[in-house]
Amino acid sequence: MAYQLTDEQLMIQSMVREFARKEILPTAAERDKSKEFPADNLKKMAELGLLGMMIPVQYGGEGADTISYVLALSEIAYACAATAVVMSVHNSIVCESIVRYGTEEQKKKYLKKLASGKWIGAFALTEPHAGSDPVSQSTTAEPDGDHYVINGSKRFITTGKNSGLVIVTAKTDPSKAHKGISAFLVEKGTPGLIVDREEDKMGLRASDTTDLIFDNCRVPAQNRLGEEGDGFKIAMTALDGGRIGIAAQSLGVARAAFDASVRYAKQREQFGQKISKFQGLRWMIADMATQIEAARQLMLSAAAMKDSGRRYTMQASMAKLFASEMVNRITAKAVQIHGGYGFTTDYPVERYYRDARVFTIYEGTSEIQRVVISNNIFKDKRKP
Ligand code: CAA
Repeated sequence: MAYQLTDEQLMIQSMVREFARKEILPTAAERDKSKEFPADNLKKMAELGLLGMMIPVQYGGEGADTISYVLALSEIAYACAATAVVMSVHNSIVCESIVRYGTEEQKKKYLKKLASGKWIGAFALTEPHAGSDPVSQSTTAEPDGDHYVINGSKRFITTGKNSGLVIVTAKTDPSKAHKGISAFLVEKGTPGLIVDREEDKMGLRASDTTDLIFDNCRVPAQNRLGEEGDGFKIAMTALDGGRIGIAAQSLGVARAAFDASVRYAKQREQFGQKISKFQGLRWMIADMATQIEAARQLMLSAAAMKDSGRRYTMQASMAKLFASEMVNRITAKAVQIHGGYGFTTDYPVERYYRDARVFTIYEGTSEIQRVVISNNIFKDKRKP
């Protein structure tokens, strides 16, 4: 049976929809060209509570459930996918990890700043030679008195340049595999944390993606998140939530591409009639709508499982896998429906097509999602 949204969830969805279409959507195409970071969007989103959605009220957040969060994120993605990825990493990965694993002192120190949008969060797990296999990372954190000294380099860090706080993983015991990895909260401006090369990407161009270099970066021991050796578990747990967020981003972009296609099909005439009258076109639209609804249900069911406190790793991977592959099919069809115009920047579908491409890659490729799903089925932890 389809998941039934509560009145409160519907209200949040409609409030964010109205906001995003009015305030964010009109500048999305321009931002894609200029690559300007959406700082003004994020400021307005913070005022609406969208940057601390699942942070408990006592730490300055909204205390919302995951379903409300993914509905909101999907509306932001409909309007601007580049703004949505910043919101997603910030909320699903950074804020959630601090809520889940932070000490009282860390929660008090960081959550208000994150919820108010004063600082945007980034998550530094990936390295130039450690992407799908983060256990092979080589960044180290060595204890030195009441500090750790971090050395290494991280790659493809969303909001690497524009963040105020970074969760970084590093090996505190290189002799151990995943159990030798720890996580740290590193404030921007800490000496030795260097924002390096910025990627020039095919999509999500207004969201910065950079290398972060840690060069003898001294971090107070009280900034370790969780215990020594907890870093991999913290990262995997964060990615479970993050992957539902990618499903939400996929859904938002897919709905935008779908709406653009329906609009276009109703006004474009060929062979003496609107192209919406052709069966070939109508079947494309029917398939698109069906796939979007299937992805929506998977996203909601993973979010509902998370909210109920049950283990939802497999459902998050299923939602991410299906939704991210779905949006790639849908945006390709949307370009096809627009014909030659779809290949130009006169219509938004070429941007949707480019933005969606990374959804089957970041926060775990489709292939990694299949590893997670099949390992959960066979329960034998087979290596990829
Ligand atoms: N929750 C909690 N613990 C988990 C877990 C989860 N979802 N998944 C694994 N673990 C634990 C296991 O229980 C195990 O712990 P024990 O030894 O104590 O039992 C430990 O972690 C190791 O598990 P595995 O042996 O399964 O680990 P693995 O090395 O085989 O890797 C993997 C598993 C699924 C392939 C994982 O490495 C993975 O997800 N890789 C993809 C990484 C990824 O998604 N990167 C994205 C980068 S971030 C990004 O893109 C963000 C952005 O900016 C947009």
